[in-house]
Amino acid sequence: MVAPRGRLRERPYRPERVLVTGASGYVGALIAARLLADGECALVLPVRAPSRETLIQRLKLELDAQGLAWEQAVPRVHILDWPGAGESGDGLAHWADQLEDSGVDTIVHCAGCLDYFDSASLELVNVQLTGDLIALGRRISARRFVYVSTAYSGGYRQDEIPETLLPEPECDPTEYTRTKRRAEWLVAESGLPWVVLRPSILIGESASGRYSGKRYGLYQQWMGLERLMTDRYHPVIHTVAPERPLNLVHQDSFQAAFSAALAWLPDAAVCNLVSENDSAPSMRDLWNLWIEVVRPEEIRYYPSFPSVNLRAIDIRQRAYLTFAQVNLEIGAHRWRFARGWIEALAARGLAFESATAASVLRCQERFVASSQVLARYRERFAERFPAHTRITEVEDHARTATAL
Ligand SMILES: NC(=O)c1ccc[n+]([C@@H]2O[C@H](COP(=O)([O-])OP(=O)(O)OC[C@H]3O[C@@H](n4cnc5c(N)ncnc54)[C@H](OP(=O)(O)O)[C@@H]3O)[C@@H](O)[C@H]2O)c1
Repeated sequence: MVAPRGRLRERPYRPERVLVTGASGYVGALIAARLLADGECALVLPVRAPSRETLIQRLKLELDAQGLAWEQAVPRVHILDWPGAGESGDGLAHWADQLEDSGVDTIVHCAGCLDYFDSASLELVNVQLTGDLIALGRRISARRFVYVSTAYSGGYRQDEIPETLLPEPECDPTEYTRTKRRAEWLVAESGLPWVVLRPSILIGESASGRYSGKRYGLYQQWMGLERLMTDRYHPVIHTVAPERPLNLVHQDSFQAAFSAALAWLPDAAVCNLVSENDSAPSMRDLWNLWIEVVRPEEIRYYPSFPSVNLRAIDIRQRAYLTFAQVNLEIGAHRWRFARGWIEALAARGLAFESATAASVLRCQERFVASSQVLARYRERFAERFPAHTRITEVEDHARTATAL
């Protein structure tokens, strides 16, 4: 284990009024609900007007999961319209006037753009909006600025990702990781007391499998497969499924870790909010679980995306592979993360359940049980399901030309 820099605080940080950005989204709503469930602090939740209803619905859902009724929480919640990134033309300066005497002492910045292919929005939301919120933090003399980044912000590196700010890598998986890294640096150089949290990929709750996010990460894969490959039976499935560990974090473990990190991390801490490297399932493990759902006669595992002869395979499988390409490439890299802070927080009582193949199976089962499309598929093709699926490892040089 690489020890984190510094030590946990002697006394917990207790915010009084927290501004949480991104609460109409998945992670922001998880954070907002947890803050409300945790204690006495009040929340200010900026929201773009069209997303107000979504914010309320999401927050109700997550409060319910925390065992807290909306009516109980609502006196501590102040929802505030805001223009969001780049819309006000003055970097939120005018909008921020109303927060001057609001008593906000803490900013948790969670609004973000996750669209790998929209460079302009990535820059605007992940970099520029972070700069605007730092300016707000300075103006109100925030006591703590927490930035929700990503475990992949360091880009492709060969060594373990340390819990420090990261230099420019040789290459980035996407513009997303580059902009998140840039934002981390802005926060660290802001002059404010800051903390950076770097979650890996969020998935459903560890015990129930309940997932309340969008089609990101693993759910993008499952939903893609559900959408593209269930209208007929595919006797042979061609896919790329690297054996590298894929770091996933259960959303309830994320919430517990967020809460502990806010309370106990010292200023200027960067925390890789990730599961244990050694128990993380690989893409291959995840595909082996998925086989049990779709039950092909044969699955052909290719070592890399370029080794698949796309022209020779079924068009829907080609569509799936093309759409999953970036995530497959990221999954093929060997990612290892320092976990010093999570371990220090665990030693102090944090209950953090690392994601494993068994716990991901619970999430998959929940997903499958909620899918009418998959239920229809399993009913329709059950008689074609083999007792066992044959597994074929395709050699790198073999550009298999098996048309289905
Ligand atoms: N999901 C994960 O597995 C994961 C893992 C690691 C890190 N993260 C980080 O967590 C953060 C939130 O991710 P998420 O999964 O919760 O995404 P999400 O569900 O798509 O939510 C994104 C949030 O950002 C807000 N936002 C987007 N564009 C904006 C703009 N131009 N101006 C103001 N607000 C804007 C959205 O507001 P609207 O509702 O108005 O669009 C929404 O509240 C991101 O910063 C991401 O990097 C997520």
